[in-house]
Amino acid sequence: MDDLLSAFDRAARWIDDYYRHPERYPVLSRARPGDLHRALPAEAPKDGEAFETIFADFESLVLPGITHWNHPRFFAHFSISATPAAVVAEALAAALDVNAMLWRTSPAATELEEVVLVWLRTLLGLDDGLHGIVYDTASIAGFTALAAAREALGLEIRDRGMGGRSDLPPLRVYVTDHTHSHVEKAAIALGIGRANVVKIACDDAFAMRPDALEAALAADVARGMRPMCVAATVGTTSTTSSDPVPAIAEIARRYAAWLHVDASYAGPAAIVPEFRTLLAGCEFADSLVVNPHKWLFVPIDLSVLYVRDMENLRRTFSLVADYLVTSDGDVRNYMDYGLQLGRRFRALKLWFAIRHLGANRMRDLLRGHVALAQTFATWVEAEPAWIVVAPHPLSVVCFRHEPADVDGGDALDAHNLAIVDRVNASGEAYFSTTKLNGRVAIRIAIGNERTTLGDVAAGWRLLREAATTANMANANV
Ligand SMILES: Cc1ncc(COP(=O)(O)O)c(C=O)c1O
Repeated sequence: MDDLLSAFDRAARWIDDYYRHPERYPVLSRARPGDLHRALPAEAPKDGEAFETIFADFESLVLPGITHWNHPRFFAHFSISATPAAVVAEALAAALDVNAMLWRTSPAATELEEVVLVWLRTLLGLDDGLHGIVYDTASIAGFTALAAAREALGLEIRDRGMGGRSDLPPLRVYVTDHTHSHVEKAAIALGIGRANVVKIACDDAFAMRPDALEAALAADVARGMRPMCVAATVGTTSTTSSDPVPAIAEIARRYAAWLHVDASYAGPAAIVPEFRTLLAGCEFADSLVVNPHKWLFVPIDLSVLYVRDMENLRRTFSLVADYLVTSDGDVRNYMDYGLQLGRRFRALKLWFAIRHLGANRMRDLLRGHVALAQTFATWVEAEPAWIVVAPHPLSVVCFRHEPADVDGGDALDAHNLAIVDRVNASGEAYFSTTKLNGRVAIRIAIGNERTTLGDVAAGWRLLREAATTANMANANV
């Protein structure tokens, strides 16, 4: 491209303006299904088009179909934001376009990943027996951890497979109803089977009950089953509850089960000294996932898996084709540690993010998000008919509107869903819902660098207004 500079200049100006005024867009896209299909030609252009033409279509056709995660009133799912320096690093990684499958195919990509994951490990207060590797998502990191757990059983599944083997006991994976679904997906993909994913009961705070885990393990062993992995969560998706890792670790150890800790969302908070205890017990974990793309200001995607036994992980996946054999000696070839061969230079953006923000600014941002969520919870608690429905230790609050004149659980569920639909349709804020104890709960998640107290107050005002309107609509039915 001969006008690279002007193209970057155009894009940089657009991004700068976008970051300054994301509130100009509706948070939740108003696109209807098929809108973009209808707007675009069915066939690719035969000849190249001018950058400016493509950029104009990006603005007029693509942007309306974007839900703005950068909007300060994006309160749904897990709210995120990427620090601009890391976005620039993403462009640099694309420009370098290296495939970091082998050390020699870009020594700096491999070594920067090693260095920055040691930095992150130290910031998180994790022990140096854990070794990191970057994947795209927690789902893939979790799948990789479960594959390593299966390999660690020493049942020769790598070579002999699982089919038709009468010597193989059923392999069991222990989760709760609040564990993220990727663990069950991993069990499906690894041939463990959904029937062998055991849901352990939770306590009132939505955390795994160690006594129930112990009972399940004992019963399974008595039936000749083989506990493969206990997956504990630090920061569950619905409520951010945390399973009691120290107690779970002690039980998993006694049953020789792999302990995987999914700290995708809440793990990053451990860089803040007062939240360090979130990762207590992880010194006994065999594997642990944290997602810098969730709460460390790195653009999606970048998830980190820490494992205790890198050699076991290598054994799980390594298969070196003749054309990939090298003579580089004692170096890490990351292609040996996962399903994929090719890998992006993701570590660059984490390195830029940590250096540019610095640990202290990151800590302040995380503290700020937690403080905003706690303030929001006090508002909900103080308002008649609004109730907080789960403990809220971090930056997420689950709540619900229960006016006296809406009768019955189903009607209240419909009422709460109507509130959220109404707010989301306004384009001014975006909330999502979950179910707790079978009932709809509204969630507010705070994790964006730009979210202020004013934004949270605006979200709260929109919810209360929508509740009044939804209530009037109920009354008129
Ligand atoms: C606790 C938890 N684990 C795992 C995941 C999956 O994350 P990813 O999108 O990186 O696969 C999520 C997603 O929100 C999550 O909340």
